[in-house]
Amino acid sequence: MAVLTIRTFGDPVLRQKARPVEDVGDVQRRLSEDMLETMRVAPGVGLAGPQVGVLERIFTWEVEDEFGTIVNPVITKRSRRMFTDEEGCLSLPGLVYPVERHLKVSVEGLDENGDRVEFDAEEHLARVFQHEIDHLDGVLFIDRLPDDLRREARRILADQALGLPLPRSNHIRTRVPTEEAL
Ligand code: NI
Repeated sequence: MAVLTIRTFGDPVLRQKARPVEDVGDVQRRLSEDMLETMRVAPGVGLAGPQVGVLERIFTWEVEDEFGTIVNPVITKRSRRMFTDEEGCLSLPGLVYPVERHLKVSVEGLDENGDRVEFDAEEHLARVFQHEIDHLDGVLFIDRLPDDLRREARRILADQALGLPLPRSNHIRTRVPTEEAL
């Protein structure tokens, strides 16, 4: 297993749409192991292909002692009910904002062996799945913020790019433990 480099905001790969995996084989199995390892070392609870520079529809997740890999994930059901909770991202280190997501989603796809899997996820796991599937479409959680917060986040990211520190008094100070990064 190998720890891969996590791409961060500004890397164009994060804005590209990942392609479906045609055949799940050894390449994806090895990638799945490396992504799980990378996610755990980070540490984070989810990691998508583009975040390690691989434009394939694959992500790993680990929530409450359960973990897995989903290839070619599709959301087949979404609850009408939404819920808002704080979210971070390994590709946007230090940023934490409340994001509205569907409370429940059903996700279908393949595991790292190419076998069909289906999950009825809710709350935290549903949030992780929605966040990671967004990554496969080049969408970052800051895109889902209301205008004012999105502007603030972009300003902070621009400052970070210039080497300025995160504002200390801002509400985005990491209130959520870094384990929650997705
Ligand atoms: Ni993320």
